Amino acid sequence: MHTIKRTLTDFIGAELMALTGLDEVNPNVITASKPEFGDYQANGVMALAKRLGRNPRELGAELRARLEAADNPLVERYELAGPGFINIHLSVEALRMRANALLENPSLLISTAESPQTIVVDYSSPNLAKEMHVGHLRGTIIGDSIARILERQGHRVIRQNHVGDWGTQFGMLITFMRESSAEAGLALADLEGFYRAAKKRFDEDSEFAARARESVVKLQSGDPEYLEAWRSFIDTSLTHCQAVYDKLNVTLSMNDLKAESFYNPQLAGVVTRLENAGLLQESDGAWCVFLDEFVGKDGDPLPVIIQKTDGGFLYATTDLAAVDYRCHVLNADRSLYVVDARQSLHFQQVFAVAAAAGFSDSSISLEHISYGTMMGSDGKPFKTRSGDVVKLVDLLNEAVSRAYELVSMKNPDIEEAERRKIAQAVGIASVKYADLSKNRTSDYLFDWSSMLSFEGNTAPYLMYAYARIATLLAKQGHSTQTARLLPAVSSMAPEETALLLKALQLAETVEAVAQDCFPNTLSTYLYELAGTFMRFYEACPIQGADEITRAQRLSLCVLASEALKQGLNLLGIETLERM
Ligand code: ARG
Repeated sequence: MHTIKRTLTDFIGAELMALTGLDEVNPNVITASKPEFGDYQANGVMALAKRLGRNPRELGAELRARLEAADNPLVERYELAGPGFINIHLSVEALRMRANALLENPSLLISTAESPQTIVVDYSSPNLAKEMHVGHLRGTIIGDSIARILERQGHRVIRQNHVGDWGTQFGMLITFMRESSAEAGLALADLEGFYRAAKKRFDEDSEFAARARESVVKLQSGDPEYLEAWRSFIDTSLTHCQAVYDKLNVTLSMNDLKAESFYNPQLAGVVTRLENAGLLQESDGAWCVFLDEFVGKDGDPLPVIIQKTDGGFLYATTDLAAVDYRCHVLNADRSLYVVDARQSLHFQQVFAVAAAAGFSDSSISLEHISYGTMMGSDGKPFKTRSGDVVKLVDLLNEAVSRAYELVSMKNPDIEEAERRKIAQAVGIASVKYADLSKNRTSDYLFDWSSMLSFEGNTAPYLMYAYARIATLLAKQGHSTQTARLLPAVSSMAPEETALLLKALQLAETVEAVAQDCFPNTLSTYLYELAGTFMRFYEACPIQGADEITRAQRLSLCVLASEALKQGLNLLGIETLERM
């Protein structure tokens, strides 16, 4: 089933083409911004009139006449407004029929893409030398939601966890591991502490530093003993990551790993191909690519460094190999890089060099899905009180214990074991939702009290709204499994039609996020849906209503709860039947 917006866009677009004789038009159908403007508005007439040198109001009137004559069952009536807006009022009967199809098969609440694509989602991708810290939180959460949404749309999603597992730091770490783990009793259980101790030794002890450098060379030349030590370090670090993913209810698994080291065998070839393409240039003793479009503040050309004089390859070199792999081996139609905005120049350069050298071609769309920095309440990048980076596990544990206090305060009668379970879900959901509800491109202020509030656009509010409907339906002996159809009654209160329409709009919301990768559009929708439900619930009593009205209202509850649940799940948030 096409979404309402798509159905209207296709229909009005076709009529506009027939009317103007043009073979490309944008009817610009949007959700109406105010109830007075109907349910949807087609705003494309003005731009078109300008293009054709015609009076917009006249063109609008002609379009309206055509639309009326076409008699689309989805629409009840059209209004011509202002300089040529078309306001669209939908037919409640058509909405009711759509809703019934969804009540019979709730999985249709979200439609699937007409032509499924292969889409790589590169996200989380921490550096394995250290433990995951708050800097990895946003990318992990946002990327996971995007992956879930694309998958739900029927695309073939290939998650790629492009972890940093190679480079000089690992020489330092394995040397430290070989030499001092017994003596210092340092367990890798505290990877962060281990890294700090190794770094301290590296900075203070020049002989150790020399051995560490040597071990990098040994590692790169494939010395089995060093490789084994490296492998065991990486495995420990990956176990840490996986524990965080599981705690966060993030869908990444060990199968999604495509570490930087995976591309090592390709790197020499990357250099050769760049050279053959005539793109490689020596500069300051390193092999670089200069493209005209990249110049620094002073107007000097900016290099993309490919290989250092000592033979070492760089971050960009690996990313070029990865573009090649995603384009030519995975045959992806899109490759999304959910990575911090501070790497935006890096990706612009990689994408440009990849295109120039044929690592990518027009069959793939390379997209940097960037996000801003997570800030503490002091407006500076989030740190502990003592100024250290916050470990992600610690942050998540704190979220759960704060949620436990909250739940215990709100619902002291629930048994402790269940309160713990609820706290687990609410704590994690709060951290995720707080992030997903903000526009990802802005920096984001991390604030415990607002994310854990039961009021406003928060996870606790939405989860509570869902649990309330679920409890109500359970009391009425109704559930999402026992679908009830909306009876064909002629009258519906405005609060009822508002809820009906809102629930049906989940599909087009998800479709939009699949396109532009802004999950906050979905959060906003879910918050509005919950508000629409609350208004319905206040205005339209279920108890005491006549049989048909009662059935209608319960069906609307089922529809709303299903939309809330499916929407929250796409944000990686699990709903609870009771809270
Ligand atoms: N490991 C990198 C970092 O911590 C992020 C990798 C992102 N993905 C990529 N293909 N470059 O900054």
